[in-house]
Amino acid sequence: MHIFKETTSLRNFLITEQNSSKTVGFVPTMGALHDGHLALIKKSTAENDITICSIYVNPTQFNNSDDLDKYPRTIDKDINLLENVGCTAVFLPDDTIMYPEGKNKEDLIEFNFGSIETVMEGAKRPGHFNGVGIVVSKLFHIVQPTKAYFGLKDLQQFLIIRKLTNALSFPIDVIGHPTERAEDGLALSSRNMRLSESQREIAPILYKALQETKNILESSEDVEKAIEKGTQLIDETNQFQIEYLEITDTKSLKKLDSYSKGQNYAICVAAWLGNVRLIDNILIEN
Ligand code: PAJ
Repeated sequence: MHIFKETTSLRNFLITEQNSSKTVGFVPTMGALHDGHLALIKKSTAENDITICSIYVNPTQFNNSDDLDKYPRTIDKDINLLENVGCTAVFLPDDTIMYPEGKNKEDLIEFNFGSIETVMEGAKRPGHFNGVGIVVSKLFHIVQPTKAYFGLKDLQQFLIIRKLTNALSFPIDVIGHPTERAEDGLALSSRNMRLSESQREIAPILYKALQETKNILESSEDVEKAIEKGTQLIDETNQFQIEYLEITDTKSLKKLDSYSKGQNYAICVAAWLGNVRLIDNILIEN
């Protein structure tokens, strides 16, 4: 597997590949790779001639410096994993490569993604999606992929990136991949590495709460009651601090006021378990 730390060497490699009409799949990540990331890589290798993965812990999308400092970094292990799943090349830029213009707020351009940014993660993590939008735009310009792969675990991020891609006319197919889970249902996440043993045991309750919310919604058709029961399941543990649990439209992410059978919806949750912030969702598309 090729390892590139600079834009020019990656571009030179890609120009040769793209000149011979090879399709390029791209999987941007922040590293600490797990089977969720690897599922995206595998999908890309199956659908494209070559696959590029980027690993870059993007400082501008962290609204909490403690979260940035504590973000797990396991680069040697990551390179090994990528090699084993047949990734063609990995891009490992640093801050000077990604932000030659500086990375303070006043150095950055600003996106406005509209109402999709003002709910859930966008509301709780001010500036987060601006940082994501900037780094993904930069990476799209550098890699110029045919297809780019994102996980639906970060549903709001996926919808915002699709909007960004359309709004800026990137000629890229943005593909969403379902959430990969551990056997006990916990959504795989790099942040799970920061959970203690006892926190890791209790963490799957988030997924159970999403399913409970779905079951109550479908049996009672009562949005408020469903949210109340889901919330209760999490609160009973006395371990979580819930930021939100919402039943939303799958595209606008606006909260549902009412529900009738057969309707599409998403149930999304964010909660702190100790000092680790976890998010999860289930998508019901009939
Ligand atoms: P990161 O959290 O490393 O995730 C990289 C990609 O893997 C994202 O598209 C994410 O949705 C996907 N992913 C994470 N956990 C997953 C799971 N359990 N199942 C399926 N896919 C999963 O998301 C980011 O990095 C960054 O915001 C990034 C897009 C790289 C921009 O910096």
